[in-house]
Amino acid sequence: MTKFPELVFSGVQPTGNLHLGNYLGAIVKFVELQNSHQCIFCVVDLHAITVAQNPNELKSNIREVTAAFIAAGIDPEKHIVFNQSQVPEHAELAWVFNCVARIGWLNRMTQFKEKAGKDRENASVGLYAYPTLMAADILVYRATHVPVGEDQKQHLELARDIAQKFNTDFSQSIADSGFGEAYFPMPIPLIQGPATRVMSLRDGSKKMSKSDTSDYSRINLTDDPETIAQKVRKAKTDSDALPSEIEGLIKRPEAENLVSIFASLNNQSKADVLSDFGGKNFSSFKAALVDLAVLKLGPIGLEMARLKKDEAYIDQVLSKGSHRAREIASQTMKDVKSILGFIQ
Ligand code: TYM
Repeated sequence: MTKFPELVFSGVQPTGNLHLGNYLGAIVKFVELQNSHQCIFCVVDLHAITVAQNPNELKSNIREVTAAFIAAGIDPEKHIVFNQSQVPEHAELAWVFNCVARIGWLNRMTQFKEKAGKDRENASVGLYAYPTLMAADILVYRATHVPVGEDQKQHLELARDIAQKFNTDFSQSIADSGFGEAYFPMPIPLIQGPATRVMSLRDGSKKMSKSDTSDYSRINLTDDPETIAQKVRKAKTDSDALPSEIEGLIKRPEAENLVSIFASLNNQSKADVLSDFGGKNFSSFKAALVDLAVLKLGPIGLEMARLKKDEAYIDQVLSKGSHRAREIASQTMKDVKSILGFIQ
């Protein structure tokens, strides 16, 4: 088996309303991983245009995600932080992968079905082909580890299928070009911890999402302490006290969600949270959750607001990051072209 050096890659869409789910499911993990791995974090603006975008809002959202990365603790000097559209190799490799992936594979993608809804005929071709671009994002760096929330699991499996099929279809040429048995690694999804799927605060059966029409369904990273407090107080719960054991959360999705959020924010397990709060009612638990959420998220929101005002700094981070990313990505495209038999 070919051994690939460990490299972390992940991306976040600049589509507005970065929320607690994005933070706990992804960004917190990025911050942890930067201590043990070389990392590349991408603001995936090419993905954002698979649905309609207002150009001025898009620009502001790209800066906002970048500000969130830095405010949360990612170091753009040590690691690479950039926006996808400044590295054309993502789109170039995505085209190659469009010719590797099978229509049947894409037809199974649940996120496309959800996003396209009933009016599938009217969805963009880009929205359908989204997962091949996502595979290209990861594999253009030959990244080995990808921290994401649970909702991205199926896309990661597809990226692995594409890597595998490319390696198999072109095995002879890969070997002839001197790359050994495999050119692409099989990227490993990192979906860990108590908050891999943060649910809506209004409905424990729905994922917390940027596009939910109710702002009370999510805590945005830019919410001020008073707004965070109001949203937690209004969060849907049932009328029972909190259980002392994990099993007591079964069939209590809203309770389970708030306990998971608390556990993740406080770096604890759900069992630890329940051993502290088991038997207590929701009003005292929610009060503790408000304090914790404000303590952890308040400084990030303030720092994001400060950074967002410094557009020149943010744009320079993205430009520098893109140059560094391109150095890696352009080498991959050279290799891929040679493997495919293109003249260059
Ligand atoms: P996006 O922008 O929707 O979300 C960014 C990250 O946040 C995670 N996430 C959640 N985690 C827990 N609970 C939730 N409610 C929740 N909502 C979102 C997502 O799983 C994700 O990790 N397709 C990706 C972006 C992408 C990407 C990539 C990721 C493009 N290319 C390559 C990794 C590698 C997306 O739309 O994420």
